Amino acid sequence: MGKIICVGLGPGDQELMSVRSDRLIRSAKTIAFFRKKGRAGQARTIVDGMLQQDIIEYAMEYPITSEIDFLSTEYKVVLAEFYNNWALRLQQIAKEGDVIVLCEGDPLFYGSFMHLHIRLNGKVHLEVIPGITGMSGCWTALGEPFCWGDDITSVVMGTICSEKLREAVSLGDALVIMKVGAHIPKIKKALLEAKKLDQAWLIEKGTMNDEKIVKLSEFTLDKAPYFSIVLVRGEGRRP
Ligand SMILES: C[S@@+](CC[C@H](N)C(=O)[O-])C[C@H]1O[C@@H](n2cnc3c(N)ncnc32)[C@H](O)[C@@H]1O
Repeated sequence: MGKIICVGLGPGDQELMSVRSDRLIRSAKTIAFFRKKGRAGQARTIVDGMLQQDIIEYAMEYPITSEIDFLSTEYKVVLAEFYNNWALRLQQIAKEGDVIVLCEGDPLFYGSFMHLHIRLNGKVHLEVIPGITGMSGCWTALGEPFCWGDDITSVVMGTICSEKLREAVSLGDALVIMKVGAHIPKIKKALLEAKKLDQAWLIEKGTMNDEKIVKLSEFTLDKAPYFSIVLVRGEGRRP
């Protein structure tokens, strides 16, 4: 019986993954990765040029992404079935040897692999290799320190309701907003009310070839790419 090893790939730049992830990917006989239908998949794109020629690849294609409300029963049922099926399939595939599951950023930080982890834990030999998170790649791309001394750093998803977002944005010092996508207007409003809009940055595709950095107040579209993060730096205690 082989292992199922999920490797954190870092935020996009291939050189920002760990030596262990690099070694496991280059020697892999079988890999699996998530992707949206019709796309190459960000995790698969990061490892381009690193794979052996005769590698076996399994693309785990999400049946849905943002087409229906993620709070609806239908969404939960469809995705639960998707993860149940892939957990079973990976268990079967691992009977032939190790399977390397690719994950952008850090697998246990809002990563899809977590839905397989809870289904597989205790049933197979599971391993997770940590990775540099997207937010870490993005605040480094900003080129200035992000949180200092006793700053409170909040990590919030743009998908939460306006009320909760307003509350989260007004608390603490440094702020990370992930899953920004179509939630730009709601995020801008919450930051404006908390008097933080002028300090907010939007980082699209941090550390990737087409990375873009813009002040959120100067971003005029209502939608940002899936790989986008809003950051507000802390101004905390320092000597
Ligand atoms: C499902 S979460 C995955 C997080 C990932 N496991 C990590 O460690 O960062 C996807 C969200 O992470 C953020 N993200 C991850 N990598 C990013 C990058 N390189 N640039 C901008 N945003 C990124 C975006 O907000 C995106 O919507």
